[in-house]
Amino acid sequence: MTDVGRHPRIKLYTMSELVDIKGYVGNFDVKILKKARYVDETECTSCGDCVDVCPVVRPDKFNLGLSSRKAIFVPFPQAVPSAYVINVNECLGHNPVVCAKCIEACDKDCINFHMSDEEIVESVGSIVVATGLEVYDPTELDEYAYTRFENVLTSLEFERLINAGGPTQGELIRPTDRKRPKSVGFVQCVGSRSARKGASYCSNICCMNTVKGTLMLKEHYPDMDIKVFYIDIRASGKGFEDLYRRSQRLGVHYLRGLPGTVEEMPDRSLRVAVENTVTSKLEIHELDMLVLALGIKPAPSTQRLQEILGLQLTSDGFFLEAHPKLQPVDAATRGIFYAGCAEGPKDIKESVTQASAAAARAIRLMHDGTITTEPITSQVIPGKCKSCGKCAEVCPYNAITVDVKKKTPATVSTAACAGCGTCAAECPFDAIIMNHFTDTQIINQVDALLEDRPKEKILVFACNWCSYAGADFAGVSRIQYPPNVRLIRTMCSGRVDEKFIWDGFEKGAPVILVSGCHIGDCHYIDANQWTDKRIKKVHKKMEKLGIRTERLQLEWISAAEGVRFAQVMQRMETLRQDVTTEEIAETIQILKERKQEKGRSKKRDDIL
Ligand code: FES
Repeated sequence: MTDVGRHPRIKLYTMSELVDIKGYVGNFDVKILKKARYVDETECTSCGDCVDVCPVVRPDKFNLGLSSRKAIFVPFPQAVPSAYVINVNECLGHNPVVCAKCIEACDKDCINFHMSDEEIVESVGSIVVATGLEVYDPTELDEYAYTRFENVLTSLEFERLINAGGPTQGELIRPTDRKRPKSVGFVQCVGSRSARKGASYCSNICCMNTVKGTLMLKEHYPDMDIKVFYIDIRASGKGFEDLYRRSQRLGVHYLRGLPGTVEEMPDRSLRVAVENTVTSKLEIHELDMLVLALGIKPAPSTQRLQEILGLQLTSDGFFLEAHPKLQPVDAATRGIFYAGCAEGPKDIKESVTQASAAAARAIRLMHDGTITTEPITSQVIPGKCKSCGKCAEVCPYNAITVDVKKKTPATVSTAACAGCGTCAAECPFDAIIMNHFTDTQIINQVDALLEDRPKEKILVFACNWCSYAGADFAGVSRIQYPPNVRLIRTMCSGRVDEKFIWDGFEKGAPVILVSGCHIGDCHYIDANQWTDKRIKKVHKKMEKLGIRTERLQLEWISAAEGVRFAQVMQRMETLRQDVTTEEIAETIQILKERKQEKGRSKKRDDIL
């Protein structure tokens, strides 16, 4: 952090909050609110004279209330810049009775109560989201008695107590009598891996954090009786199994089973009842102190940042990467990267690895000074655009701007456009061209595939990344599926315009399948949600027109689901065989009449 603070080409905004971000890769405008420090950070030498005279004493948040600080303070010992800050809500200087002792004590005249919050706009080319994490709040797990007994601590509180820079200079003491505990118990998975309370995922760091804590205790207090209550110990990193074994060799007891109840004895020690799942026996353990190994959650700012940046979250609330294997540090929006626990629970080593990768990805993108965009992007035909705003609403990348009130035609930022084609499929005025996947190109494919004996064909629209790859996988795996399947590739299922479907039926298709990535797996954030909505809409129209809705199917097939692809095609073949020549002819007739009627009403509108 000190290196970052000193680096001539890094601007560090501390005590700052992100307000808004506009733009796209290479051209982001970031609005930042820099909070007033009330101390000139360039002049402050952290001499501490102001602290000595400040009369206000408050619990120190960094030490989780285990020590106190003044109203003028350094947030934590390693803070960069190493300058004091005043909490104005606590300081008497702002009250009618002005204290101003710190001003008198400061030889450098660093204190300035006239400072105010500042709004700053920075232009940046790429963004790394590193929001950190929050620990699980153990107050809802009352069986561990955190709210009732003082000698039940969280792993963070324990960490501060055994830290040499902590409130006790690294001396472990019991909060009730300030004596060194003779026995300490650790409870694992507090707020993790639980379907009942907390998170269902593994928090990744708690096992090794506890192992580290036990090693430190054994190093300082070899006679201490230490017990760890666990579901299973996950020591999967490099050298972690060795640390776990070392902890066992030093005499730490690992007991498989989580405590059911915790009671306090008259001497304030704790009585812990636990079912040992190895022996299937109920055991009672008497301990001086109990430490709850807390799980981790996404940082509180995640939701707001997700809204500002238009990113996606997983069901656990962490940021979703563009691809879990191939782009693990990239957001789906180009130019945005993730580092650390923003993307999921991680330990320090993993966070550093991911942060390095994110920095390298950002540098690689920015290095040339220019950005190459994919040719598959959408383009607005200004003469046709009626500024309805539908394209901007459906664009997962916020790449389209349209002023609905001023009725200015929509514009597409090609740098931000990823090429899913949802805008072109949803535009009611055909005012958007999807380069390389234009309406004409796709309709020509439909027509060509159904030109000869259409009744025998199964028409399939498959998205490039999942369903089309699934078909490929079925092919290379030599999995048999009906040979009359005719595939049309689109980049995303979101590109499948309803007019392609109507055209298919009009050209005699007995059945049509639209397929794409599973919901949540779409390579264009959530573009396939629009596919789902669109197909439902088409089904309703089919119902009204008297066309059997089973003839249009929607399936999510991933790239690895070659077998499923073949099964779906087999099902489509069964459906196809069920469609008679008369039914197809009737559909063609219905659609032709509908088209004529539409043509007549358009003419009427034009005349009027
Ligand atoms: Fe496959 Fe969007 S990329 S459905």
